[in-house]
Amino acid sequence: FGTPNAWIIACLVFLIGVTIRHYFNSIHARKGRPNWTWAVTVILFIAIAWLSSAPGFDGDVEQAEAVPLTRYEMRFAQAEGFEQAHEIVQGRCAMCHARAPAWDGLRWAPKGVLLETRADVARNARAIYLQAGVSHAMPPANITDIPQEDRALLTAWYRAGQ
Ligand code: HEC
Repeated sequence: FGTPNAWIIACLVFLIGVTIRHYFNSIHARKGRPNWTWAVTVILFIAIAWLSSAPGFDGDVEQAEAVPLTRYEMRFAQAEGFEQAHEIVQGRCAMCHARAPAWDGLRWAPKGVLLETRADVARNARAIYLQAGVSHAMPPANITDIPQEDRALLTAWYRAGQ
């Protein structure tokens, strides 16, 4: 479930159901053994294995920046303290929560949570508030050393936009 390609993987799993079913239907109808279904099943399975560790097709940051903000995003982007909140998030969160994470060992943003662009930050206001403002769940083990004052700023920003 952890990859942005989960929906493609689900589709391929359904297709594997079709190839297996076709094989048994053919045997039971005494129409021979369509052994090609084995090959197709194996190919689909390899595709699934590959997709599960391939990066998603989220596009890049420039593309994302170009999309206009929704009304919901606008509300938090215009709330008092947004510029600072965006800066904090870029400095303390974006190395992991990026379209192409810079953090060693991460191939995509954890849980698909992107925190790079203004829209990303505005859209995730509530999650940021919960994970990094009022709780210390993020960053994990405070690995990027976010000071308590910054957490307070994130909290104040979310409450201002609420
Ligand atoms: C070192 C990498 C790293 C950094 C830095 C980091 N995160 Fe995360 N984040 C993770 C990982 C890993 C998870 C997935 C945790 C899990 O599966 O329970 C996660 C999950 C999340 C989630 C989803 C939580 C959920 O359960 O739905 C949010 C929201 C989030 N992070 C926000 C932030 C914010 C805000 C910051 C900065 C203050 C931040 N993260 C910094 C690695 C990081």
